[in-house]
Amino acid sequence: MDPNASGLAQRLAEAEQCHLLRFWNELSPAEQADLTQDLQGMDFQEMNGFFKNAMQVSSNKHEKLDNHIEPLPREVLGSVTRDRESLKDWELTGLRCISQSKVAVLLLAGGQGTRLGVSYPKGMYDVGLPSHKTLFQIQGERILKLQQLAEQRHKIKCCIPWYIMTSGRTMESTKDFFSKNNYFGLDKNNIIFFQQGMLPAMDYTGKIILENKGKVSMAPDGNGGLYRALGNQGIMDDMERRGVGFIQVYCVDNILVKVADPAFVGFCVQKGADCGAKVVEKTNPTEAVGVVCKVDGRYQVVEYSEITLATAEKRSADGRLMFNAANLAIHFFTFSFLRDVVQKYEPQLQHHVAQKKIPYVDSEGQLIKPDKPNGIKMEKFVFDIFQFAKTFVVYEVLREDEFSPLKNADSQDGKDTPTTARHALMSLHHRWVLNAGGHFIDENGRRVPAIPRDGAAGSVTDDGNRNLKDGTDLPIKCEISPLVSYGGEGLEELVKGREFHPTLIIDEHGVHEQVKNGV
Ligand code: UTP
Repeated sequence: MDPNASGLAQRLAEAEQCHLLRFWNELSPAEQADLTQDLQGMDFQEMNGFFKNAMQVSSNKHEKLDNHIEPLPREVLGSVTRDRESLKDWELTGLRCISQSKVAVLLLAGGQGTRLGVSYPKGMYDVGLPSHKTLFQIQGERILKLQQLAEQRHKIKCCIPWYIMTSGRTMESTKDFFSKNNYFGLDKNNIIFFQQGMLPAMDYTGKIILENKGKVSMAPDGNGGLYRALGNQGIMDDMERRGVGFIQVYCVDNILVKVADPAFVGFCVQKGADCGAKVVEKTNPTEAVGVVCKVDGRYQVVEYSEITLATAEKRSADGRLMFNAANLAIHFFTFSFLRDVVQKYEPQLQHHVAQKKIPYVDSEGQLIKPDKPNGIKMEKFVFDIFQFAKTFVVYEVLREDEFSPLKNADSQDGKDTPTTARHALMSLHHRWVLNAGGHFIDENGRRVPAIPRDGAAGSVTDDGNRNLKDGTDLPIKCEISPLVSYGGEGLEELVKGREFHPTLIIDEHGVHEQVKNGV
């Protein structure tokens, strides 16, 4: 339809975005229809408002927060290492809530995974484990196992609803993947997909960018787009219908994530918290992570770029960094807190600005791939709602047990790659076997030391299990299916007093050794 007749041209003119129709006469009728459809769905005045606010927030961010930041008070903190005596109790509380089907998990899977560089959703990635399970499968099986553990303990049938946020780009392939994999053994009625919003990319003057003559450059509106999507996709109503009381939010890319972690849920419930964050200890002042702390009396995540090195290096009396609660984007919310955020507070959340290299079509119609940032994407962050919590708590866990994100493609010495994720999982499972009383032996029948020693005899193998020649320590190849153990439990009867050659695989079919299998 003619943009003048439909009023679209007028709306664009009022918002100073007329350039979006610059190539209208060169488009085919089908392309015109697609562009019209995309533009009709946009509220340009709202976009302009978002741009103005986001740019303002971003320019204020140059002011450092050193004089406003305070450490976390001890009373909001729980720790798997320092509160060992309470751990079992928290876990039991969490398991009881799970058995009552009050706990749901919410997966943030709407990102574009640009750094990893695959064309499909990150959850479908296979990091190269012996089983070749994908991130989605590992998470699905952990949910299934946890349901069984709660059912066994409380003798009632329960479910952990799994809410999965995708974006326009990842929805169809994610749904197809789940369906082809038979929902990993879960009841498909308890897996609820919903879609986050998208926003146009803009140049530095606030003009929306065209990625080609007939298409606006769009990107998901950040993992904090969650709150708007929960409201406009009817997800809060679905949770209410199911009687969900507690929600654990997490990111798709952490291979070690304890989905619906009963101890974390139980800790938050016992503390009467409406909002909680899981963290690991930041030990290096220059590590580029956001830390959970207080700013002007309100809880928030402070990015490493927002404080000076001197503040990042400050230490408490116990010698630990003062601002050491590294945020993992694993959160706990009560249903009523989440509902308040969705209904009342969401509009108060500001978009953050990410400067990006955004391919565009110039005024002559040439497609340009910039080699330096030429515009911005606007994103909300999932953790920006801490400020609204009435009772906020922080739960510290061990990095080697619970956090290994997949962000980047493999490269030499790369951080957060498929290799580091695979090694982190196998190393955890190796420790589970040792703690349950099992042992590993090399091809000469000698026990592999639990803690590798430099140049240890027999520790260098050609199947990639350990290689101390060049100082690198590859983990013993060992994988335990989540269907057998959620968090290391139940392994004694399978491994105690036994010796295994790597690769060791423990799954629902039993205990197997695969000798000489490539890494
Ligand atoms: P990241 O910020 O690491 O982004 O997301 P990403 O998409 O995985 O990777 P890059 O930056 O493009 O390389 C952290 C988590 O937030 C989710 C991601 O799916 C991931 O679980 N996310 C991110 C969303 O759900 N929506 C978004 O708009 C952005």
